[in-house]
Amino acid sequence: MHITPAASTAPDYAMLARQVASILEGERDLVANASQFAAFVYDTVADLNWAGFYLTRPSRGGDGAGQELLVGPFQGKVACARIPFGRGVCGAAAEQRKTMLVPDVHAFPGHIACDSASNAEIVIPLIQNGVVVGVFDIDSPTLNRFDEADQAGLEALVAAFMAATDF
Ligand code: SME
Repeated sequence: MHITPAASTAPDYAMLARQVASILEGERDLVANASQFAAFVYDTVADLNWAGFYLTRPSRGGDGAGQELLVGPFQGKVACARIPFGRGVCGAAAEQRKTMLVPDVHAFPGHIACDSASNAEIVIPLIQNGVVVGVFDIDSPTLNRFDEADQAGLEALVAAFMAATDF
């Protein structure tokens, strides 16, 4: 008797990480690699409505000491351009320097709704030499879309991107 395994939306992240390394091989430019990486994730991970980068920049205004996130290469609908560190899911990931896995964005205090279709989100900080240089943000229209296996897999993809790219 043939037993069909339980349906899973999880891709083979180890294979995807090897593909990322292969696609980015020979190119270290930030804009080029970030664009390719966002397109690759959006295309290969199921059920997403946004995937892309926010990059750390000095805050406009204030005393110049603060930092904010400025939108970078992405796939999906037009998004908010600037997010202060500490604000929303992206700002929390940047400030706390850890991945934010959010099953229901509507239950996350301060969530910034760029696309009303988004219901779940995962944001992975980009840390280079101890400095948060940005975040990679992924949104899904499906509640509870991402689990710990997705988190580990997506962190591995981001690590492959970071290893291949100059900031
Ligand atoms: N929802 C994010 C803002 C960025 S968009 O999802 C592209 C947040 O709360 O930080």
